[in-house]
Amino acid sequence: MSSQGDHKPGSVGKGAAVGEHEKPELVMADGLLVPPITLRQWEEIKNFQARPDDTFIASYPKSGLVWTTQVMEMIQLQGDVEAYKANKKLVPFLEFSIPNVEISMPAVKMINNLPSPRVINIHSPISHISKSILEKKCKVICVLRNPKDVVVSYYHFHTFSNIAPNPGTWSEFLQNFMIGKVAFSSWFDHVKGWWSLRKQPNIFFLFYEAMKKDLGYEAGRLASFLGRDLSPEAMKNLVEQLSFNSMKTNMDEKIPNFKTVAGFSFKQFIRKGQVGDWKNHFTVAQNEVMDQLIADQLKGTSLDFCYEL
Ligand code: A3P
Repeated sequence: MSSQGDHKPGSVGKGAAVGEHEKPELVMADGLLVPPITLRQWEEIKNFQARPDDTFIASYPKSGLVWTTQVMEMIQLQGDVEAYKANKKLVPFLEFSIPNVEISMPAVKMINNLPSPRVINIHSPISHISKSILEKKCKVICVLRNPKDVVVSYYHFHTFSNIAPNPGTWSEFLQNFMIGKVAFSSWFDHVKGWWSLRKQPNIFFLFYEAMKKDLGYEAGRLASFLGRDLSPEAMKNLVEQLSFNSMKTNMDEKIPNFKTVAGFSFKQFIRKGQVGDWKNHFTVAQNEVMDQLIADQLKGTSLDFCYEL
């Protein structure tokens, strides 16, 4: 456990910017805290019309969503490594609409024009998603990760991303996370909302920690949910290609213009990929407060997270 209260690995000072860009302030969209690029297209996001054969990957930021998109891709490609490397497209994020940018963050309009079947990432809690997603009984893959590692990952993300505001110090960021004063608001509301739908057959849950423990097993569960069957060879390829080291090494090559669009490289984004990095950040006192908050907030939900492997 960290002994220093204000661990600041590469943190950005107040008012500072990453590179030459100004860091944005968060804004409210119907009571949800979001970055300005999300608010700019909020009406389109709210009124987005899902199609019955859409698949959504839903997660609170920093829970392993991009990793899951790659697992989906390898499943869809039946573990074909050459086809996987040749595919230069990323799954679009509904909420990070950057009009006229064709690669990683398309506008809602661009998603509207994609052919079916579509795969779409979403970060909003169920209180703020388009009603059509649940009404049309779309498949939703919810990716969950323990909140201590989420907040650590989120903090680091803020230090290198231009779409995230200034994180302040680690202690300040942790405090804001605990009260939901970060982009996409409360982690607790987010996971409790999606978890409340767990009995619906079209909603599927993946836990980051379980993927770390046995990616092949979790990918197999996901493949079954998607109605796919992978050969042992295909599964071996998937596991090799999507290990932490392999993705950290290969993703910038796979998606060469990602850095130009996102403002940070995959080498930065795929940072540490561990269960338990929170121990290098939380002080004993911070951990006690967090444990109490988790116990209070998740009481009676049957949600149980793994904090170390
Ligand atoms: P860390 O910052 O803890 O390293 P998201 O895609 O939801 O934003 O999640 C990002 C987190 O997933 C980062 O966590 C990132 O390193 C981790 N991640 C990405 N690819 C991974 C992989 N192949 N194995 C393990 N973790 C991975």
